[in-house]
Amino acid sequence: MMDHAPNTTSKATSADTARHASHPLDPLAPQEIAAVTELVSARFGNGAPLRFERIEVKEPDKAQLRALEQGEPVAITREARFSIYRAGEIGVTEGIVDLDAGAITAHRDLPDARPMIMIEEFLAIEAAVKASPEFIAACKRRGVEDIDLVCVDPWSAGNFDVPGEEGKRLSHTFCWVRSRPHDNFYARPIEGLNAVVDVDSMSVLRVDDYYRDRTPPPLAQAESNYAARFFETYKPGGKPLDVVQSEGPSFTMEGNRLKWLGWDVRVGFNGREGLILHRIGFTENGVRRPVIARASIAEMVVPYGSPENAHHRKNVFDIGEYGLGKLANSLTLGCDCLGAIRYLDAHVNGIDGTPVTIGNAICIHEEDFGIGWKHWDFRTDETEVRRMRRLVISSISTVGNYEYASYWYLYQSGTIEFEMKATGIINTTGCEPGKPSRYGVEVMPGVVGQIHQHLFCARLDMEVDGPENTVLECNVVVPPKGPDNPHGNAFYEEQTLLTSEQAAKRRANQATMRYWKVINPGRRNAVGKPTSFKLEPLHAVTPFTDPDSPSGKRGGFMFEHLWVTPYHPDERYPAGEYVNHSKPGEGLPAWTAQDRSVENTDLVMWHVFGLHHPVRPEDFPVQPVVTCGFKLMPSGFFDRNPMIDLPPGANKGSCCV
Ligand code: CO
Repeated sequence: MMDHAPNTTSKATSADTARHASHPLDPLAPQEIAAVTELVSARFGNGAPLRFERIEVKEPDKAQLRALEQGEPVAITREARFSIYRAGEIGVTEGIVDLDAGAITAHRDLPDARPMIMIEEFLAIEAAVKASPEFIAACKRRGVEDIDLVCVDPWSAGNFDVPGEEGKRLSHTFCWVRSRPHDNFYARPIEGLNAVVDVDSMSVLRVDDYYRDRTPPPLAQAESNYAARFFETYKPGGKPLDVVQSEGPSFTMEGNRLKWLGWDVRVGFNGREGLILHRIGFTENGVRRPVIARASIAEMVVPYGSPENAHHRKNVFDIGEYGLGKLANSLTLGCDCLGAIRYLDAHVNGIDGTPVTIGNAICIHEEDFGIGWKHWDFRTDETEVRRMRRLVISSISTVGNYEYASYWYLYQSGTIEFEMKATGIINTTGCEPGKPSRYGVEVMPGVVGQIHQHLFCARLDMEVDGPENTVLECNVVVPPKGPDNPHGNAFYEEQTLLTSEQAAKRRANQATMRYWKVINPGRRNAVGKPTSFKLEPLHAVTPFTDPDSPSGKRGGFMFEHLWVTPYHPDERYPAGEYVNHSKPGEGLPAWTAQDRSVENTDLVMWHVFGLHHPVRPEDFPVQPVVTCGFKLMPSGFFDRNPMIDLPPGANKGSCCV
């Protein structure tokens, strides 16, 4: 968690004038973050030092936003949310700041809530563990003499009812040891040695050595490095493959509003979810039609399958327990991003409340996406072909050993896609060479990658042609053989209205080619049907965690591929607002227990998708990108192929070789 290249972060200078953002949905500017910190410090600053978990824009009321979009004169107060805690104390204070008035307008204490593990705490956790005499002694028993070469990853600790852990804010750590300075330490796991750190007092609560009375697996002997400096020769990488946009890209930006070939969207960002897309709409014939009010990846969980030693505790919620936004990379032109790139900086808060700017955190560009449609008329020998493009809005975060690269795509075909590219380093454990257990695969002698999953939850605040939407489930039905199916070929699609929250808790079903449609019952297309977008669960993962287990109860969202809730501004995160050490049942399971109606209303669709990851040797030392995601396709939203009237033409930069 400490060894990725440092971001080019900088402390923003505190401005003497609070410059207001240009739109109520824009992320907080550094000056606004500083203003919140100043107000909060003045109010709560007496006592133990304040720690700032989150400072973010409080998104305005949706009715006000709609009025604003329709040109009505509405005054929207610029507000911020904050969550703070105190060094050495449990509990969170959260509240609202009115930035226009310069006042804290609401706050409450949550004595049981535990804030996420902050990046500033990572190295302190490692230092605390490496100073523990018990830990040092356990390392020596394994032949690790140089503690400086030991690396300790600060995993979240979950909620496992372990005596002595109650009511604390902890990190349950795993450790590795380098062969020499700066090599890839994940090639040398120290198996079965876990220190539990009280993050508030930064002291070691307990050292669990699973090999106190038996021989641990030997330390792996070989190195496996990935940094360029470890390579003396390289294989051929190919000739230059340049993306040339001779007249520049086709998108424009006004503030955070991005417009591209009919699409428009507001780019947002916060420390927890990272990238957020607001107010996605498509304009045709001069009329703007809304599709999604807000889209983000609101939570994720990575359950590991091994019950051995302490590996059952690996069930990390990287968004709720660490924050993808805070861990966003500064992206590099020509490396992370190819072509004509527009970068946006992201502004988050540091643990002391100061604004931290992550330069070039968001990458915007367009890509050719092959042919969009084609037809050859064999009678007339006439061919029509049009190419298709997509607009890409992306951000990459490093959470410990893994990289999560988030890509939102808008297509000329009207499709909206999200793709998660997972890369980085698998979490490794040790085994006797040649003898991994059934819960993992040896990626090199003595180094194991355990079976695990990455389950993401998208929060899609839908607005297909307006806020009043309904979700339908579509399944294929085969009539029984007989009068209704005399030839045995018959099959058709049946649509079922998902009327309430309980009815809308759904799993994918490949056997019926199941998918879901978000319709606007009040808007009809050219064939008289409600306008709609469909969601196909292309990467539905079957979870294997027991729903009644300590991890299953905290990550209840993972057990359905679809949830639908009526919009509520406080229902933001599927595993709850404070996920670190959270109690069972928070988030989607609790909200949907109300079984509210989701028919013809302002609804939020939650889609769970992911990666099932039985590890391969090729995933080491750094995993090639693997992807998962989903598409929202127009399905009767347009009256015909929206690309049909694209102009013909041929790319002039292409040549024959
Ligand atoms: Co994985």
